[in-house]
Amino acid sequence: MSTTTAAPVTKGIVIAVVREQAPGEQRVASVPEVVQKLTKSGYEVRIEHDAGAGAYYPDDLYAAAGARIVTGRADLLQGATIVLCVQPPSVADVEMLAEGTIVIGFMNPASSLSTVARMRDRRITAFALELVPRITRAQSMDALSSQATAGGYAAAILGADNCPRFLPMLTTAAGTIRPATVLILGAGVAGLMAIATAKRLGAMVEAYDVRRAAGEQVRSLGAKFLELAINAEGQGGYARELTAEEKVQEQQMVSAAVARSDIVITTAAIPGRKAPVLITKETVATMRPGAVIVDLAAETGGNCELTESGKTVKVHGVTIIGPQNLPARVAYHASQMYAKNLQSFLSLLVGKDGALTREFTDEILAASLLVHAGEVRHRPTLDLISGGKP
Ligand SMILES: NC(=O)c1ccc[n+]([C@@H]2O[C@H](COP(=O)([O-])OP(=O)(O)OC[C@H]3O[C@@H](n4cnc5c(N)ncnc54)[C@H](O)[C@@H]3O)[C@@H](O)[C@H]2O)c1
Repeated sequence: MSTTTAAPVTKGIVIAVVREQAPGEQRVASVPEVVQKLTKSGYEVRIEHDAGAGAYYPDDLYAAAGARIVTGRADLLQGATIVLCVQPPSVADVEMLAEGTIVIGFMNPASSLSTVARMRDRRITAFALELVPRITRAQSMDALSSQATAGGYAAAILGADNCPRFLPMLTTAAGTIRPATVLILGAGVAGLMAIATAKRLGAMVEAYDVRRAAGEQVRSLGAKFLELAINAEGQGGYARELTAEEKVQEQQMVSAAVARSDIVITTAAIPGRKAPVLITKETVATMRPGAVIVDLAAETGGNCELTESGKTVKVHGVTIIGPQNLPARVAYHASQMYAKNLQSFLSLLVGKDGALTREFTDEILAASLLVHAGEVRHRPTLDLISGGKP
């Protein structure tokens, strides 16, 4: 019996995976399992030395998957066709890239304008994963969702870890313990994962979202959905901003729910805007001592008025945690999911003939193309860079 091995198709494409340099970033853009698939398809894969160390993927696993371990950023990036990253590259990284290099990762464009401008000037092609449209065909490359899943899980664990109570109901010889009450504000991807995790830990879970459609998903996880007589579902399934009157109604209902909770996890966000304040300092004063707030919106202004990004503060005996980069706390699986998102994204860039496309007409590529051929292609970023000037 003769066996045939499929010949590698992707000849001459060099993929470089960087070691993340942002403080506290433990994730890596590719994992050995995915690297193996890429090398088998004929890509040449280079990994920066210790790139996976923070997520517990040692160099030798990448080497066994067919990657070359490279020490030193310049050697890694020189001659790379595609660079994979989690966080946006630094300006110094961009200086090392040849014209036409493709960079794929979270680009955080509004806070990385100098990098964006440098990529434009050096004619780099950059795809921003946060701009991938949330259409069915793009689900496998939706890194916002995969990382929000990791963040929601980590938030529930962080809340439980800082809570002085048991979460489940216990009936013991030493008495009966009532289950803790966990409130989730914002039931998008992260919020739903936080609900599922808190339920598994045995808590009584309540949740609220301005989008009424979220109610069904919340109830399907066995949690109680708090309802207002308004629906603030806006364009593309995201929330719209509430009117002043709606905000008062929301505030009253949310405040009452917060006051009876042991753990509150907030994930409310409106794309491109500062996070809405859902918990005022007056509401915090009504909470039980020992209660915990985990504010996932800390990095975009916070859902609680007293949140300090990157810090844990105690006010009236209430612990308020403003975590940064929660997905990095579960770096092993967050990296695995992210790597699969990137693998899927790459399949759009490389045709069945193994050739790299330079025509980014596919809807997903076109939407996520941030910089290309000396131009910033994402209008809101272009407006920020040019300061409103044409
Ligand atoms: N491929 C897909 O089709 C796909 C993939 C991912 C997400 N989605 C949908 O996109 C939407 C947004 O998901 P996300 O997790 O990125 O959201 P997000 O991170 O932008 O916001 C988190 C949640 O906060 C809610 N929120 C905003 N203001 C609020 C307020 N004042 N009070 C309470 N809650 C508030 C939002 O409605 C959202 O559910 C959801 O409908 C989700 O199901 C679709």
